[in-house]
Amino acid sequence: MENLFHNLLTLLLFVTISHTLPSLAVSFPISPNFPAVFNFGDSNSDTGELSSGLGFLLQPTYGQTYFKPPSSGRFCNGRLIVDFLMEAIGRPYLRPYLDSISRQTYRRGCNFAAGGSTIQKANASSISPFGFGVQVSQFITFKSKALQLIQQDEELERYLPSENYFEDGLYMFDIGQNDIAGAFYTKTLDQVLGLIPTVLDIFQDGLKRLYVGGARNFWIHNTGPLGCLPQAVSLFGTDKSKLDEFGCVIDHNQAAKLFNLQLYGIFKKLPQQYPNSSFTYIDIFSIKSDLILNHSKYGFDHSIMVCCGTGGPPLNYDDKVNCGSTARSNGTIKTAKACNDSSKYVSWDGIHYTEAANRFVALHILTGEYSETMSSRNL
Ligand SMILES: *[C@@H]1O[C@H](CO)[C@@H](O)[C@H](O)[C@H]1NC(C)=O
Ligand SMILES: *[C@@H]1O[C@H](CO)[C@@H](O)[C@H](O)[C@H]1NC(C)=O
Ligand SMILES: *[C@@H]1O[C@H](CO)[C@@H](O)[C@H](O)[C@H]1NC(C)=O
Ligand SMILES: *[C@@H]1O[C@H](CO)[C@@H](O)[C@H](O)[C@H]1NC(C)=O
Ligand SMILES: *[C@@H]1O[C@H](CO)[C@@H](O)[C@H](O)[C@H]1NC(C)=O
Repeated sequence: MENLFHNLLTLLLFVTISHTLPSLAVSFPISPNFPAVFNFGDSNSDTGELSSGLGFLLQPTYGQTYFKPPSSGRFCNGRLIVDFLMEAIGRPYLRPYLDSISRQTYRRGCNFAAGGSTIQKANASSISPFGFGVQVSQFITFKSKALQLIQQDEELERYLPSENYFEDGLYMFDIGQNDIAGAFYTKTLDQVLGLIPTVLDIFQDGLKRLYVGGARNFWIHNTGPLGCLPQAVSLFGTDKSKLDEFGCVIDHNQAAKLFNLQLYGIFKKLPQQYPNSSFTYIDIFSIKSDLILNHSKYGFDHSIMVCCGTGGPPLNYDDKVNCGSTARSNGTIKTAKACNDSSKYVSWDGIHYTEAANRFVALHILTGEYSETMSSRNL
């Protein structure tokens, strides 16, 4: 029976992803047994939250490869890492919490991640008002309303997660990039490094509220090589001595590494603090670094040059002209158009990865080689 189940899953996975990398053997660090998935984060996993919440549509270049207009609200030409993970376990894509008009339900989970979000509380100059603490509050409200509605009318279980779905569900996190990368605009490297423990304390406060709210299974992405984002290279790497041999900003990567080191230290201690819980840490930094540094080996032509940008090599990035739009920069009107073949690029718009890069990251997560799980079950 178990074997049959496993074979079915393997088949399912093969069908889902075989058109991309048929030879990759896939194990299951993310279990298809989780009845629901609740996600928290920033644009790395925003499936339409910020655009729903603030009421805007992204330029039609966003989504051009996969979702097509009306805009899916994803900051990408197609699918995100979280979309590929949901495909791998045979689930619908996660519906954003603030999505008021949709074909999807919330039965299998809900996505609170919003582009631009920080772990720290948002302020007047934040892109997203939905900082991590707000996302956690949104979840708590969501859960209590869903359970009350189901209590009044069992039929609603078709659309909403039931109590055991919340209990046995998977709680995913990909957040912190905007706290670190954002801090460099106003702070020195030492100040940014000094800020990390404060940021991670706030992150832990959120995890605690979720645990108290019933979450037991946690899945935490660390942050990527932020210094390799074309935006960082363009704004902080004009002095070449600031760049490493791969063209990435040294300071930003150093901060990302320290953030990850401290996050990992916290991860190691979490199960002791929280009985009957399980925590998985996923080393996104290593996967993305491998992709960027060894890009040609993986069939990518460009690791830092942007697909949807303007200005031409080496970066094809201008922070005044957003992907898909036309704007004045340095005295001239410029348009940022998408490249012809986004599958050859790691960076979509200078800040966000292409669908091809996201697929690469997701497939590497699914090998299980970049994750570690700590559990306090059966202690
Ligand atoms: C807003 O918050 C960010 C950190 O999230 C901080 O870097 C920035 O200085 C704050 N701005 C104001 C005006 O407080
Ligand atoms: C442990 O957590 C799981 C959720 O993963 C839950 O189903 C189970 O009831 C919990 N057990 C105890 C003893 O609390
Ligand atoms: C690049 O590939 C080489 C050879 O496979 C490997 O040893 C190295 O770790 C890779 N670089 C990164 C950053 O993963
Ligand atoms: C701005 O325009 C001037 C004159 O056309 C040019 O020399 C300069 O390189 C441009 N600067 C940037 C950052 O593109
Ligand atoms: C896309 O391809 C067309 C035709 O091959 C070419 O003329 C055009 O310059 C290319 N555009 C970009 C942005 O590379």
